Amino acid sequence: MAKIIGCITTTHVPSIGGAIAKKLQNDPYWSPFFDGFKPVHAWLKKVKPDVAVVIYNDHGLNFFLDKLPTFAVGAASEYRHADEGWGIPVVAPFRGDLDLSWHLINTLVDKEFDITTCQEMLVDHAFTIPMSLLWPGGESPPVRAVPICINTVQFPIPSARRSYKLGEAIGSAIESWDSDAKVLVMGTGGLSHQLDGERAGFINKEFDLKFMDSLIKQPDWATQYSSTELVELVGSQGVELLMWLAARAALPGPVHKVHSNYHIPISNTASGLMLIETVH
Ligand code: DHB
Ligand code: FE
Repeated sequence: MAKIIGCITTTHVPSIGGAIAKKLQNDPYWSPFFDGFKPVHAWLKKVKPDVAVVIYNDHGLNFFLDKLPTFAVGAASEYRHADEGWGIPVVAPFRGDLDLSWHLINTLVDKEFDITTCQEMLVDHAFTIPMSLLWPGGESPPVRAVPICINTVQFPIPSARRSYKLGEAIGSAIESWDSDAKVLVMGTGGLSHQLDGERAGFINKEFDLKFMDSLIKQPDWATQYSSTELVELVGSQGVELLMWLAARAALPGPVHKVHSNYHIPISNTASGLMLIETVH
């Protein structure tokens, strides 16, 4: 059976793509952020995952406000990026894993998650930027990928509790996949940020750090909050932390925190990074 080796949760701010294109990783503004990924690179070199299940939120590239699934799973052999209007370079297509996609889809539907199945799927910055951060250098990542989207761009969004349960179901589905693959789960977004409205620029460092800590000590801690409470606590786009929650919930059994970083600000967003490995 497949083995989940851990999860990596990270911010996905588009301007990171611009910084990579301009090779600004060692610039004083950017280095506290990019340096945070060095221990992650060392870990990835050591554990060498075969597949990445990437939980993220699409921002209007693949789904728009007219048709917006709460949960969607990719089932394509390839996932293309496209120009999103952020001015970031379009990156090469990513390899899919059809076998894991369909196993996930069948298992999730069997467990009463009403997901949307996407046999064609464009992936936006929330998928591509974390891939470039984990596997820098401009070459295609050495993993096959399965994208999973959770809607956080238009209300009603799924609750933290529901997202956590989805994560648990994703984890047990991966573990029942008949494969000897090593699987990494990724969760991208957040942490606290609000891009528009009266509270534009809102960041809540105290909550972010408490949330990151909770993922080790009590991973379902954030499920006590309703969606509107979360908007109040972390901003209207900070609710992207649901991806972190689902990714962490996918890990079976005991875990060990390998690394974390928290840096304010990249653009308008508190940039968090965590690497949690499963203890087998
Ligand atoms: C920013 C953050 C995001 O999560 C996003 O999807 C787009 C922009 C920002 O901080 O600029
Ligand atoms: Fe975002």
